[in-house]
Amino acid sequence: MKFFLDTAEIKEIEAGLEWGMVDGVTTNPSLIAKAGKPYLPTVQAIAKLVPGPVSGEVLATEYEEILSQGRRLAGLAENVIVKVPLTPDGLRAVATLKKEGTRTNVTLCFSAMQALLAAKAGAAYISPFVGRLDDIAEDGMELIDQVVTIYRNYGFDTEVLVASVRHPIHMVQAAMLGADVATIPFKVLEQLYKHPLTDAGLDRFTSDWKKTGMQFDQ
Ligand code: E4P
Repeated sequence: MKFFLDTAEIKEIEAGLEWGMVDGVTTNPSLIAKAGKPYLPTVQAIAKLVPGPVSGEVLATEYEEILSQGRRLAGLAENVIVKVPLTPDGLRAVATLKKEGTRTNVTLCFSAMQALLAAKAGAAYISPFVGRLDDIAEDGMELIDQVVTIYRNYGFDTEVLVASVRHPIHMVQAAMLGADVATIPFKVLEQLYKHPLTDAGLDRFTSDWKKTGMQFDQ
């Protein structure tokens, strides 16, 4: 499973890259607004930093404008993936962008049939939002299960990108279901490394060794 960072914060991306765990990045208008930086230059800066796919989202909702913003985003760098909302205009734009050689990430997916429509339109990635479904007492991971099965049944090459990830259990479930990608906040990436027994074990090894008074290279 590929790990994308779900952020527009350059410092978080740099840290994740140093750890060698970042295969790509996803952004959205809320994340870029939170970072407080100008839109296109931020997507471009991230794309320069990351040697993998970087999703930049269109702000438009009408077909022609989605296309025009999508083309501008795609022109920023070769690794920019155009993120498009799951609407009739959005999916129409996905098909057109695909013909032009531009890869898209269809966002705001909340049902299996929406995911099937996105695959039929030719999306490179589908982003089902698991956390937001959990928030309204639906089972976000059940949607991932459905989408993975449906895509496998028909041999679609659209990648299932688990979005709106809130905690490590989502990551375990996504990996067990065979999702292609999960995009995660930096905080969740940090949590994946953590286990109290790792910390306790490290403390014990360190203090036992200190008691001997010996050096590593003695
Ligand atoms: C990423 O592509 C999505 O925009 C993001 O994961 C949404 O996450 P949220 O539901 O925590 O805002």
